[in-house]
Amino acid sequence: METAPVLAIDGPGGSGKGTISQLLAARLAWHYLDSGALYRAVGLAAREKGVRLDDAPALARLARAVDIRFEPQSDGRPAQVWLEALDVSDVLRTEETGRLASEVAVLAAVREALLDKQRDFRRPPGLVADGRDMGTTVFPEAILKVFLTASPEVRAERRYKQLKEKGLDVTLLGLLGEIRERDARDAARQASPLKPASDAVILDTSSLSIAEVVETIFRRLQQRL
Ligand code: DC
Repeated sequence: METAPVLAIDGPGGSGKGTISQLLAARLAWHYLDSGALYRAVGLAAREKGVRLDDAPALARLARAVDIRFEPQSDGRPAQVWLEALDVSDVLRTEETGRLASEVAVLAAVREALLDKQRDFRRPPGLVADGRDMGTTVFPEAILKVFLTASPEVRAERRYKQLKEKGLDVTLLGLLGEIRERDARDAARQASPLKPASDAVILDTSSLSIAEVVETIFRRLQQRL
């Protein structure tokens, strides 16, 4: 539905986007779009079905056909994600899936194929859309566009803590390398590169708490509504 307002939150991985967007969606009682999960699901589906990562037409067909469902959890836990009949909630968040996602996300045909799926999330009373190109490409008419940043070092540390808590064997240096590599790929691609919309509010979260960022965005949004 065209009338529901959109709050677009873009930025690189580890900028706090996911957590902050979900908290804002809960506070506003708005819908939430995790667009990265769609790219991750396409990457996973490609691996499952043996589609090569350089076969753009096949990947675009897969992106159009992929049956991905989000099941919000009532207790504040992240939504459960289903890829066809498979619960992919955990495998979706791994570094390996993130790498697959960032490779399929380079392809304009895949991005185009995911546009309608993303826009379908826009329903009353509103949508918090989290990604890389929410404000620039998918919802250019968003009522407020926020671009979150944080230094690669801070982002690597955040990711390190998250993954260690899950008991995964990772190193800080390894994560920093992956973050730099993925940033470079996301920013250098031709199709919807990672960059702030010209009318985005840019917020560096390196030395801000999650609560401070949520409060700042919430207040700005109230001014626009
Ligand atoms: O936010 P994330 O880590 O789940 O995103 C995974 C990959 O998908 C990331 O490398 C960039 C890509 N992506 C994108 O190109 N456009 C989006 N709107 C969201 C994610």
